[in-house]
Amino acid sequence: MDIRQATVDDLLGMQNANLLNLPENYTFKYYLYHALTWPELSYVAVDPRGRVVGYILAKMEEEPSEEPCGHVTSISVLRPYRRLGLANKLMRQAQEAMVAHYNAAKITLHVRKSNRAAISLYRDTLGFEVHLMEKGYYADGEDAYGMRYLFQRPT
Ligand code: ACO
Repeated sequence: MDIRQATVDDLLGMQNANLLNLPENYTFKYYLYHALTWPELSYVAVDPRGRVVGYILAKMEEEPSEEPCGHVTSISVLRPYRRLGLANKLMRQAQEAMVAHYNAAKITLHVRKSNRAAISLYRDTLGFEVHLMEKGYYADGEDAYGMRYLFQRPT
């Protein structure tokens, strides 16, 4: 499986994977906004025929803050391609790009409290920590964990 930076041509494939994998869906315009504003931060995993089998849609926080902060809007991998390390690689690519291009000090994301696979990926594999709990964050009322990863920076 090839992992590469997402282009505008990948956005429909990303949206399709998102619709298959998650209840949190976005307009095509929102995908386009990510790709045009932070072209370095979103990645796709593609099969040998070029079909998108996994993606990470990422951005920089737009609210003014002390330090640049990356944010993972959405990540998912099609079911037959899970547990192959693709999400881990997609996350690491986006993390590297956030530091290289935007000097990110940290990354944040939201995840459903019941999403054991994703929480394990973030916490156990990537070293994220839970920093807050947002009650009723999702449309169906489920709570979210706010998770974050702080980059080690030279002092
Ligand atoms: N159960 C427990 N731990 C898991 C699981 C699982 N089902 N899947 C992944 N992990 C953890 C493990 O620690 C794993 O390491 P290991 O395989 O060496 O044990 C580690 O994550 C890395 O796994 P990957 O193979 O890189 O993960 P994968 O490519 O399968 O993708 C993902 C994980 C994205 C959570 C996938 O299951 C998925 O698409 N789920 C549905 C969509 C989703 O929940 N997306 C996240 C929503 S939150 C957000 O988008 C910000």
